[in-house]
Amino acid sequence: MNSIFNAKWIKSPKEHELETALFKKDLSFSKPVERAVLNITSHGVYEAFINGERVGDFILAPGWTDYIYRLQYQEYDITDMVSEKCELTVSVGGGWFASAISRAWHAGIEATKKQLKPTALIASLDITYTDGTSELVVTDEGWEVTRWDVAYSDIYHGETYIADAKRSYQPVELAELTHHTLIPTEGERITEQETLVPVKEILTPKGERVIDFGQEITGYVEFDIDAKAGQRIVIDHAEVLDSEGNFYNENLRSARVHIDYTCREGKQSYKPHHTFMGFRYIRLTECPEHIPTEAFKAIVVHSKMKRTGYFRCSNEKVNKLYSNLVWGQKGNFLDVPTDCPQRDERLGWTGDAQAFIKTAAYNYDIQKFFNKWLNDLVCDQTVAGAIPHVIPDNINNRQDYITGKIECSAAWADSVTICPWQIYLSYADKKLLEKMLPAMEKYISYMLHDGDDPYVWATGGHFGDWLSMELTDKQFIADAFYAYSTSIVIKVLKVLGRDTGRYEKLYTEVVKAFRKNHPEYTSQTECVLALHFALTTDKEATAKKLVELIHNNGDRLTTGFVGTPYLLHVLSENGYSDVAYTLLLQEKFPSWLFSVNMGATTIWEHWDSLKEDGTFWSTEMNSFNHYAYGSVGDWMYGVVCGVKPREDMPGYKEFDFAPIADSRLDFAEMEYETRYGVIKAGWNRTDNGFEYNLTVPAGTRAHVKIGETDTVVEAGEYKF
Ligand code: BGC
Repeated sequence: MNSIFNAKWIKSPKEHELETALFKKDLSFSKPVERAVLNITSHGVYEAFINGERVGDFILAPGWTDYIYRLQYQEYDITDMVSEKCELTVSVGGGWFASAISRAWHAGIEATKKQLKPTALIASLDITYTDGTSELVVTDEGWEVTRWDVAYSDIYHGETYIADAKRSYQPVELAELTHHTLIPTEGERITEQETLVPVKEILTPKGERVIDFGQEITGYVEFDIDAKAGQRIVIDHAEVLDSEGNFYNENLRSARVHIDYTCREGKQSYKPHHTFMGFRYIRLTECPEHIPTEAFKAIVVHSKMKRTGYFRCSNEKVNKLYSNLVWGQKGNFLDVPTDCPQRDERLGWTGDAQAFIKTAAYNYDIQKFFNKWLNDLVCDQTVAGAIPHVIPDNINNRQDYITGKIECSAAWADSVTICPWQIYLSYADKKLLEKMLPAMEKYISYMLHDGDDPYVWATGGHFGDWLSMELTDKQFIADAFYAYSTSIVIKVLKVLGRDTGRYEKLYTEVVKAFRKNHPEYTSQTECVLALHFALTTDKEATAKKLVELIHNNGDRLTTGFVGTPYLLHVLSENGYSDVAYTLLLQEKFPSWLFSVNMGATTIWEHWDSLKEDGTFWSTEMNSFNHYAYGSVGDWMYGVVCGVKPREDMPGYKEFDFAPIADSRLDFAEMEYETRYGVIKAGWNRTDNGFEYNLTVPAGTRAHVKIGETDTVVEAGEYKF
């Protein structure tokens, strides 16, 4: 058992509970140390230091899980950091555990300070001496705590920092908290990934000093300055400027996203400790004039996933779209797949995650990342099988779990089947299927028992085709996903060698009911789902209808979060790849390239988050970094360049190469790093058609389908 289980939970004394506490233990070692290993976690987010030097590089450790069930602890080898006498300090801020984002424990969005649970720390330090003896130091009554330089921190609201805050240590109190939730780290730790420098300093019409980093990121600002004690630097963050060029942050809603730094004398540098922001612009709301723009940098943070995919083509606008969707992933994969990184939300919205996962799995290796998140999803599923809208679930009261009042929405809840299946396809992760199967079956049973008709998803709080430009019947979507998830469960059972009989029967009945209740398709999304989920009995007519709807809308899409991920696929699968390309290359609103033309550097929440006339969608819900529509990325990799995993040989042990070229592009190319090696694929336009290139890594085979060519090739380089 890990030694952390021998440690006690400690917290700051009740009478002055601290916003951010700095815990301290003086260490002294009588003999030479061979190995020192720190195991640590907190209620709240922490940073540990040995003699002021940061331990490890995990930003916002211990990460975000459903803390009611699971709390990750981290292990750090600190052998090289300790000396005969040294000081171990750990700062703990509210983080996801105890700030405005932690609604679950406080019922209601406006959690006040008073309602927040106190933060707490638990840690153990295993010392092995060179003479073979060992010692264990744990958190207990012998530790001290003080107020730290971070006077205030909150995920949504930012940080207040007083550079020479006085420290006065006092004894800690023990906290009556459980050890049962402690688990070793499962996910990919969040780390600093890139540093951006200012591209422009702007004096806005309102006379405000604004810095543009040229790219919307998730992370924080760092500054390096020379200042006088007591001078203040106050920074606000924004994604966009308004039509007049003024700083605009109304769309952040109640999130203050604000840095308030009080300087000490002399040279100093700062970056936030326990929070993050989604931004492209900062306003120096208060800043001594002598401090130059170059003193500020933007630091990009996200989960440390391995980059695996790259795409490029001859159209620079499409390349920008691709860059934007990659940035969408960087900005929203912070331990949990989130909807957005900036406003008072930043939650693990299931619908967004399932819409984007296929694209995400090309861009980065997300196996570990999703394994962790899906474990939380399993924890948060209700006894009846409902899947809450966000994971970790911080929207519902735990009381609602007992009374069964948890809302469940089609396409959102289906993340329980769609996400594990995608991870299986991309990484051959059979273990995950095994683990997730009970949750999948429980979810199917939930739909089965919901309402009087077992083959219709009778109730549910459905979101429908969220943010679409055309109405799609919510019941249509619910019944379609009922069939789709059932079909995935059948595939999973087959992979695991189990009997599928019951689900085959159910599937037949659900599809029958669907066809009876939804004989017509009136919206683009209805056609898309009917085709993609094989619900239509007449594919040809449905595809034709979809093309007609697109054409009648000026060759433009109308789909929302639900229809968009499959839209281009059903077109290219049914003989209309030219229409799919038309939609990809469309520049008029609503389209992907509309946002590119409007200067987007990430994917927007709405097709028209920023309108042609420079005005915005309402302040209520307008994020400029929402990856759902970035789901078009998987069509770029999987159809334009033609590389797709195969169900019969997942994890790219064997893969399909079936690119579809279009003469509106001169070339398209991709690289994808599989576990076997790098696949390179692409094509270029020649005088008499297209030339296709493929590199098949050792240990894999490609099933090639290009026009008349239908063949299987082993490792090597090919031209077709
Ligand atoms: C979120 C979404 C989410 C949606 C559910 C929004 O507030 O930002 O992306 O999927 O709610 O309808």
